[in-house]
Amino acid sequence: MTAARERRLAALRIAIAAAKLDAILVSSLPNIRYLCGFSGSSALLVVTATEVLLLTDFRYSIQANVEAGTVARVVIEPTSLWSRLWAELPAMRDVESIAFESAHVTHADFQRLVEPPQGGARWQWRPAVNLVEALRERKDESEIAHIREAARIAELALGNTIERVKAGMTELAVCGILEGELRACGSQSHPFETIIASGERAALPHARSSDRVVGSGDLLLIDFGAESGGYCSDITRTFVVGKATAEQQEIHDVVRESNATASGAIRAGMRGKDADALARGYIERRGWGEAFGHSLGHGIGLEVHEGPRLSKLNDTPLPVGAVVTIEPGIYRPGWGGVRIEDDVLLTAEGREVLTSFPRELIELG
Ligand code: GLY
Ligand code: MN
Repeated sequence: MTAARERRLAALRIAIAAAKLDAILVSSLPNIRYLCGFSGSSALLVVTATEVLLLTDFRYSIQANVEAGTVARVVIEPTSLWSRLWAELPAMRDVESIAFESAHVTHADFQRLVEPPQGGARWQWRPAVNLVEALRERKDESEIAHIREAARIAELALGNTIERVKAGMTELAVCGILEGELRACGSQSHPFETIIASGERAALPHARSSDRVVGSGDLLLIDFGAESGGYCSDITRTFVVGKATAEQQEIHDVVRESNATASGAIRAGMRGKDADALARGYIERRGWGEAFGHSLGHGIGLEVHEGPRLSKLNDTPLPVGAVVTIEPGIYRPGWGGVRIEDDVLLTAEGREVLTSFPRELIELG
């Protein structure tokens, strides 16, 4: 693990030097975890050409040394991490211009950078975006192994859950069964709020699980993830509780074919917008383009939504090593919705679909 972190720090140092910077102050917790392994909820990391400094507080003194001690100098600060920064920076050699992560610094913290205590004004703070996130888009073998495990756990939990779902349960009750199964199968967290959306509520792409009672004949959309070693999976399947109607089957078939079209043809080097068009084009040709209002997918890793985006707005080529979701959907207000989501690794040769839960429409109960 230390070797992987050294590689990531070396790649970041190249990016910093290319941007004519001497150092970076990393304040995004997923970025800190990626670079040095520390997984606590309070930290700042400074990376210079020769040093790595991790600031955290007393709650994490044991954990920080265990997780990051081989690549970073760990400093435990009992009061303010930002004040401690000013105490530590003067001793760091050859550091004048420092990047800060402008997407991850609050305005209040930004004020602390530009209005330092006496004597702190010698540093130039320069905003930077995506320096670490860009590195995170390409997963290494250990990251892929964790995502693979997170996908395995999610699918095992889903299989156990659907055997227990019956008409008459609330969405929240189904959610409780699934989340219990996820923990029992080894998921370390729920990477995002589990979506259980039934009947006409399945038309809400990001529904909050509710006390609605799932009725016979209802669509049941389940979108959730598992976590292994900090890495997420993200999978959606849509079921029918009881007997499916011809219309439910037909819409499900369109979404499934759209998913298969994109999963079968996506590859590294293709622009994010062209991947999006693979699935969207199929749904449009079937006459449902207006009902697919979100992007095709997103990268997954330490966060459930990260780069690269499979979106009409992404003009950049997809990198080898990215793991992305493919999640087309059709949403019809008052009727319901169908989404089928898989996780796909982009390889030099093509792709590997990491999720394999059946995609046919399954009737439950
Ligand atoms: N699967 C949830 C999301 O991608 O937002
Ligand atoms: Mn997703």
